[in-house]
Order: sequence, then structure tokens, then C-alpha cells
Amino acid sequence: MPDYEKEKELAARGSLRYIQQGMTVGLGSGSTAAHFVRLLGEKVRNGFKIEGIPTSIRTSVLAREHGIPLTDFSQKNRVDVTVDGADEVDTALNLIKGGGGALLREKIVATATDFLIIVADSRKPVDTLGAFPLPVEVIPFGWELVAEQIKGLGAAVKLRMTATSHPFLTTHTNHILDCRFEEIPDPERLSESLRRITGVVEHGLFVGLTKLVVIGRGDGTEILTLEGGS
Ligand code: A5P
Repeated sequence: MPDYEKEKELAARGSLRYIQQGMTVGLGSGSTAAHFVRLLGEKVRNGFKIEGIPTSIRTSVLAREHGIPLTDFSQKNRVDVTVDGADEVDTALNLIKGGGGALLREKIVATATDFLIIVADSRKPVDTLGAFPLPVEVIPFGWELVAEQIKGLGAAVKLRMTATSHPFLTTHTNHILDCRFEEIPDPERLSESLRRITGVVEHGLFVGLTKLVVIGRGDGTEILTLEGGS
């Protein structure tokens, strides 16, 4: 059985070479991005100068613990490079994200980023997105109506619950619907269909945003780009 924690760490380490001194760096959320934050913190403590923009409260706490100076969109309007995780990556580098519930901030940072790098273990690449349930962030009022409309698009829909059986609340006090499509052959089309539903705040399909993916596999890494590797 592969050591997925090691693969995550290798992927995160492999992304470090794309970070240059002076950059504004988007800091992703989830367990793979956490390795990146920790490794970047080591460089910062050795004098490497960057500023970070975290994609979640948890990541901002971690970044501070590791000594990374933080900034935000009151100071910057672009991000040079972001390193984040993903739940699935297809061959066109489209993603499903949001397994951790931070998809809204992650997408705000990703769309403001010049070079989005995804770091992931070897379970994440897929031919077609959709086996992982697509997280959709919705306004609590009338979420049932939104769920019905998403069912109409072909998904089995579940309201995400906490361990104590309460509806999960995002940082922005919205709910998450986990939508299992099984197969998403046209992510751009589904993205547009979801966007048209009133009550949807954002969804976890990241279409055409990623420039490069670093996959940890076994004892090494693989680089995926749209040009087919580097
Ligand atoms: C957080 O909301 C997600 O988008 C994560 O980036 C995604 O779930 C990947 O997390 P892991 O790196 O922990 O698998």
C-alpha cells in the first residue's frame, strides 16, 4: 500500500522550486497544502522573503505558526503563485476541490493567481472527474430547492453534516451540498449550469485555472502540464 503521506510531502516539496523571492504566494488548504506551508515556513525562517495569502482560517493559523508573513486583498490585487491541493485532477487539469469545505476562498485566490500549482498524492489523477462528490456551497435559506435542481442535473445530492449531526457551516456560514455525478464529461458546461442556480454561492469545479500539477508517486514526483509534462 503506497505511503500517501509521503507522496503528499514529496509533491509539496516538488512545488517549492516554483516559488521565487519577493512573490505573493497563495497558501492552499487541506493536508497536502499543509506540507507546503510547513516547508515554505522553513525557507522563510532561513531568510527567504515572500508574503502569503491563506485560503482558509486553518491555513492562516498554520502559516503564522511557521513564521510566514501574511497579506490580503486590501494590499494586493494579484497573486503570483498559489500552491493548493485537490480532490480530483483530470487530464485537462480541471479539478474538483472543496473536500475540506474551503472552496469559496480557494477559488477567489485561484482566480486572482497567475500560476496555480496543484499538489496531490497518486490517488488524485483521474480520466474523468466525478467519482468524488462535487462540493457546492449554498445559502442556507432554501437549500432544499437548490438540491432538487442539482438532482435534475444528474447528481445524488447530500447536505454535508458535522460529526455531531448538524449541517456543516462554511467560514461564510453557508452549507455544502456534496453532489455525486459519477462522471462529469464536460466540466465547463456543468460549471455554467450550477452558476445559473439561484442560491449557489460557488462550486468546487476549477476549470481551466491550473497551470501545473505535481503528483507524489512512490518515491518520486510526476509533473503534469497541459503541454504533457516538463
Ligand atoms: C479544501 O477545501 C480542499 O479543496 C482541499 O484542497 C482538497 O480537499 C485536498 O485536500 P487533501 O490535500 O487533504 O487531500
